[in-house]
Amino acid sequence: MKDILQITLLVIMSLISGMALADYKAGEAKSQVCASCHGINGNSEITMYPKLAGQYKDYLSTALHAYKSGSRKNAIMSGFAAGLSDQDIEDLSDYYSQQDGLKVLPEK
Ligand code: HEC
Repeated sequence: MKDILQITLLVIMSLISGMALADYKAGEAKSQVCASCHGINGNSEITMYPKLAGQYKDYLSTALHAYKSGSRKNAIMSGFAAGLSDQDIEDLSDYYSQQDGLKVLPEK
């Protein structure tokens, strides 16, 4: 009963706000494309690819929206962000923000 109430409340809230609710599992699935550069779980081991693991969720979604809108320019990321919906950005940001950022220095 409590679950049903919570789910109903979440659905109503998302309808009212019109904002996408983050889906961690969907974010994990969508992150497969990103792993080739940003590493497994966002812990990139290559200097030129920033670590996404453990980064603030707001920071990640702001960066992705900026690449998508063109206000932040990067040839590689503009291409990837262009194909992301608001929901994708929400899910991916939620997923990466909850990963442990490992303190391993990347290869030079
Ligand atoms: C082909 C390699 C590549 C792939 C694949 C890729 N990225 Fe990136 N990403 C980069 C590079 C390079 C940068 C640094 C760009 C810059 O300097 O702004 C970056 C930067 C970012 C940033 C900003 C990080 C920061 O610290 O400001 C985010 C967020 C990000 N990528 C998310 C993603 C997501 C989500 C995906 C999958 C949908 C993805 N990237 C796929 C190469 C890639």
